[in-house]
Amino acid sequence: MSESWLPAELAGVVRLADFEALARERMTAQAFDYVAGGAWDEVTLRESVVAWQRFRFIPRVLREIDGIDVSGAFLGKSSAMPVAIAPMAVQALAHAGAEAELLAGAAAAGIPYALSTTSSMTMEDVAAAAPDAERWFQLYLVGDMAHSRRLVERAERAGYTALVVTVDLPVLGRRERDVRSGFTLPGLPHVDEVREARAERYGGIEGQWRNGLTWRTIEDIGTWSSLPLVLKGILHPEDARRAAELGAKAVVVSTHGGRQVDRVIAAPEALPPVVAAIDGACEVWVDGGVRRGLDVLVALALGASGVLVGRPFYWALAAAGRDGVQHAAALLRGELELALPLLGCSSMADVDRSLLA
Ligand code: FNR
Ligand code: LAC
Repeated sequence: MSESWLPAELAGVVRLADFEALARERMTAQAFDYVAGGAWDEVTLRESVVAWQRFRFIPRVLREIDGIDVSGAFLGKSSAMPVAIAPMAVQALAHAGAEAELLAGAAAAGIPYALSTTSSMTMEDVAAAAPDAERWFQLYLVGDMAHSRRLVERAERAGYTALVVTVDLPVLGRRERDVRSGFTLPGLPHVDEVREARAERYGGIEGQWRNGLTWRTIEDIGTWSSLPLVLKGILHPEDARRAAELGAKAVVVSTHGGRQVDRVIAAPEALPPVVAAIDGACEVWVDGGVRRGLDVLVALALGASGVLVGRPFYWALAAAGRDGVQHAAALLRGELELALPLLGCSSMADVDRSLLA
């Protein structure tokens, strides 16, 4: 990489996985473990990376390739590549600029960014830092329905363009690294407004079931704003079908990065039945363990139209702020630009099931 903006400390970072060691140096052990960790024995966490690597390509040759186009689209809007940044809590653990800094990096790279309800900054402050950046709001129900509704209305006013409701956290998974270290989520402005007492270690979002998140309330949540509804954390094809019937514009096939139920099916294995069940009724996105451009291409070949990437961007933020984030995106993009012609493709539209063994 020879980007002129590349800070010296990133010279040795040639693939996404290289950010992790830098982040480990810059974050406290407790915070690093919170981000890196997963539920129980971390079986799903470990499998999430290798599950993508199990697929094999059958390249095509001698096709005419007139230009390489790695652009993608989310909810009908084009994106520099079919990759977006997954919602992740309390980004102040990685960098003083927190969510605003990560969003600035995403904007520079031309990819969407999802802001978690459990952010370190308010959604308005994040939006103000990069007013033109494509951004989505990820909802956890907080306090009563009225407060949660106010959060959604604020997000719409602050220029967030999609509502991503995370449905795989009826209760919080047990992350034993956090139990050992005594980790608690610090400073959550959207949550602390209504939960001053902060009796719970994750600020009160850990009981989405108790807070009332069900299929019935999902329907109501969809009416709180005009934002397209995305349901994140779907693995079962029947749930996918139901999401589409309720008007979701996208579902995210996700294991929450292996942080919720351990020994749960890996995302690339869950993806094809979900794609079949949705049958074009809405977009299908996927996340968990995506670390290479080739992983993105496997996801697209299996029928996803978009991919979310989590931890590598957290590590990149910790390593070098927005420059790190921009470099991470550039590395992924470079891999896509190289892999497409190697596989005999010129754009993402050429990537389909026939490319896989
Ligand atoms: C998450 N994830 C997550 N998801 C969500 O919907 N709301 C959230 O607040 C968070 N918070 C969060 C914090 C941290 C530190 C991590 C690592 C993850 C899950 C996230 O959106 C995504 O599903 C996974 O991170 C994807 O897996 P990879 O790319 O990290 O392997
Ligand atoms: C997590 C929650 C906050 O995975 O989504 O830590």
